[in-house]
Amino acid sequence: MSAVSPSALGLWAERGAARLVGVGVDAVDVPRFRRILGRRPGFAARYFTETERADAGRSVDPTESLAARFAAKEAVMKALGTGLGAFAMTDVEVRRAPGTGATRNAPSIVLHGGAAALADAHGAGPFHLSLTHTAEVAIAFVVAERSSSCAPS
Ligand SMILES: CC(C)(COP(=O)(O)OP(=O)(O)OC[C@H]1O[C@@H](n2cnc3c(N)ncnc32)[C@H](O)[C@@H]1OP(=O)(O)O)[C@@H](O)C(=O)NCCC(=O)NCCS
Repeated sequence: MSAVSPSALGLWAERGAARLVGVGVDAVDVPRFRRILGRRPGFAARYFTETERADAGRSVDPTESLAARFAAKEAVMKALGTGLGAFAMTDVEVRRAPGTGATRNAPSIVLHGGAAALADAHGAGPFHLSLTHTAEVAIAFVVAERSSSCAPS
């Protein structure tokens, strides 16, 4: 194993941090989310795009998939250093990758409207997203890169 000097490590960490705008993580309690969906018929249409609802509809448990997408929207807010109300929830859209290879169904983020404007203002993008969900909890993890036009030299 080759030795890495502390100063080299520091430089590497600094460069890495300079390439990120932020990270965000969020967890949604799935049984609670299921109760909310059951009680509020308009909830899904209000907070999820047609694509998200259609994708979730193809999942074994659509509620788990919607809960993970809800977590993704909140994780994007954290990555951008903002909170609820900064933009419409439908301005953050989770899409599934098409195809047949190893990345099939991998989730990605597309921003619209107010979320896209806020990301531009922060020099953020592209975004990276990972989701996981069980009957109990849905978790989303987001990394917001600094867009290349804003990267320090
Ligand atoms: C990625 C994979 C290991 C996830 O397994 P899992 O334990 O069931 O997944 P989790 O319950 O933790 O998370 C589910 C989420 O993983 C994400 N996901 C699915 N496929 C993915 C992939 N290929 N890469 C990254 N994330 C993926 C989705 O967002 C999914 O949520 P959604 O269904 O609501 O959209 C599994 O789907 C897999 O092996 N995919 C490989 C792609 C494939 O089908 N290859 C076959 C040909 S090589």
